[in-house]
Amino acid sequence: MLTWDDEVTPTPSIPATSGSPAMNREVTHSPLAQTAPVPQAAMRTLDDGAIAPAAPRAQAGSSQPTSQRRVTAADKRIINGQTDVNQLVPFKYKWAWEKYLATCANHWMPQEVNMNRDIALWKDPNGLSEDERRIIKRNLGFFVTADSLAANNIVLGTYRHITAPEARQFLLRQAFEEAIHTHAYQYIVESLGLDESEIFNAYHEVQSIRDKDEFLIPFIDAIMDPNFVTGTPANDQTLLKSLIVFACLMEGLFFYVGFTQILALGRQNKMTGAAEQYQYILRDESMHCNFGIDLINQIKLENPHLWTAEFKAEIKGLFQKAVELEYRYAEDTMPRGVLGLNASMFKGYLRYIANRRATQIGLEALFPNEENPFPWMSEMIDLKKERNFFETRVIEYQTGGALSWD
Ligand SMILES: [Fe+2]
Ligand SMILES: [Fe+2]
Repeated sequence: MLTWDDEVTPTPSIPATSGSPAMNREVTHSPLAQTAPVPQAAMRTLDDGAIAPAAPRAQAGSSQPTSQRRVTAADKRIINGQTDVNQLVPFKYKWAWEKYLATCANHWMPQEVNMNRDIALWKDPNGLSEDERRIIKRNLGFFVTADSLAANNIVLGTYRHITAPEARQFLLRQAFEEAIHTHAYQYIVESLGLDESEIFNAYHEVQSIRDKDEFLIPFIDAIMDPNFVTGTPANDQTLLKSLIVFACLMEGLFFYVGFTQILALGRQNKMTGAAEQYQYILRDESMHCNFGIDLINQIKLENPHLWTAEFKAEIKGLFQKAVELEYRYAEDTMPRGVLGLNASMFKGYLRYIANRRATQIGLEALFPNEENPFPWMSEMIDLKKERNFFETRVIEYQTGGALSWD
């Protein structure tokens, strides 16, 4: 069994701390800052500007390319599909459509949440301890840019490589939700009158935040590269790896120390407006993570040759590295015990979550027999809840539709 201090498999694609174009304001050609032109030789453009591989292959048993036949569900594929991406139906991946409907039913906006109590508490010199204030500022320092990275990854990276329109539909909704999350964090920063420059530059200036983002960025940059196209085993593995890092390690792990801390504040009746916003964000992220895992598993099912022993070993190394980075972030944000929490409690929690993510994509648990030290977080993620936990408002966010969560 691994211990915390075990050596973590190095990830060769992690850059040196100074060289990430996606975070460097001096680099003008950052993929995060521009649209991605598609090489004409490799791709063709459909009438509405959507892109598809240049030379559709005829399916077995048919002399006509699938792109010229009427779309059948059986012909659809999550990646490298040849069917028309503009035709949402016939549905093949009903889980993607159902998750799209569920996210729409959970629509919310940040400015609906009353922040008055948070503002009064923050301005009261005796309202919060220094350690509590540190947690809030570190939290916002990570999240104000993290969800922009997430949105850019979807819009400029993932989206064009996914050829199932029902999955694209979810990604469009997800991208908007990431915008809502960035809006929510900005709204909290503005409400509390925090130093915007300090908070929005934290991902450059706070090492524990920078380390997490620098772990993620190579996997985002890889699929945002305008020259990157799927269709070879190596490139399909690059995309699959990026999807795993994004869903399981970014949305599924790197958000959890921060979510737990702010929700712990809320449980003690502090910063209840911010906590309510985080509760809705957690609900959204939980759905993003579940969708990403379904997407990963469907790609595995359709492309079993990608799931090699070597690839699995690489993914396990990434999981271990991510757990280590998130634990360092926990230590940095909680140099002492605060709110009944301390960093070492998060060691078990992060291992517990990593095990769950690993088994959800068909890997063995990395840290066997870990238990959840924060069972109350499950209640926060319990999306069947029909009222908000912190009761800062009475309006329901759910706008319709019966929700079913697995
Ligand atoms: Fe988000
Ligand atoms: Fe997300």
